[in-house]
Amino acid sequence: MEFPFDINHLFPERFSILDQTLVAGRKTAGMPHLQANIETVIDELGRASAKAQQLPASITSASKLQSQKHQLYLLKDGESNGGRGVVVGFLKVGYKKLFLLDRQGSHVEAEPLCILDFYIAENLQRYGYGRELFDFMLQHKKLEPVLMAYDRPSPKFLSFLAKHYCLTPSVPQANNFVVFEGFFVNIAGSP
Ligand code: ACO
Repeated sequence: MEFPFDINHLFPERFSILDQTLVAGRKTAGMPHLQANIETVIDELGRASAKAQQLPASITSASKLQSQKHQLYLLKDGESNGGRGVVVGFLKVGYKKLFLLDRQGSHVEAEPLCILDFYIAENLQRYGYGRELFDFMLQHKKLEPVLMAYDRPSPKFLSFLAKHYCLTPSVPQANNFVVFEGFFVNIAGSP
């Protein structure tokens, strides 16, 4: 995804982690154009993700990120676009308190890290970028994919999880979240 400004200037590293402050680990006080450009990138990514998932509205935007305690992992390719860089995609995560049904039909209350939105630019899908970004997040959070919950995963994402992490859906839930075989075993064993 190309932008009319230098992506390498905005995001110096291959991976950036954005939170409520949107600053990508830098001080943007006195540099309002940087902040505005970061907002443009997030809004554009959110729109593209919603379109790809055929959602009526974006679930990711700069204003939403500023008002929620979520984290957005962003992957760039710094060499494309004549050295100005392109944004490859993003992954948004956050903790949510969920009431889930286990195999016995009992309600289990848990607050797992949830995958809330995930998008790789259309022309860059199926090149391994999604795996690279997901693995970076797992390493950063020191988590296994089976310990997380997934908010309304798309067919492509379910296929991605089965292929790369051998995950198969567990008990159907009454909400939009999906957890996988092994989730309840692991939370039962956690302190
Ligand atoms: N059709 C079916 N499966 C796909 C497709 C596709 N068009 N694209 C990726 N996948 C799955 C397949 O398992 C594929 O393996 P295969 O090529 O051997 O069949 C695997 O992902 C490829 O892995 P990566 O290359 O690492 O994944 P990619 O970079 O394509 O990223 C992602 C995966 C994020 C799901 C991407 O395809 C995408 O952005 N899709 C559109 C948006 C979307 O559906 N996002 C998930 C929303 S749900 C949520 O966020 C909770």
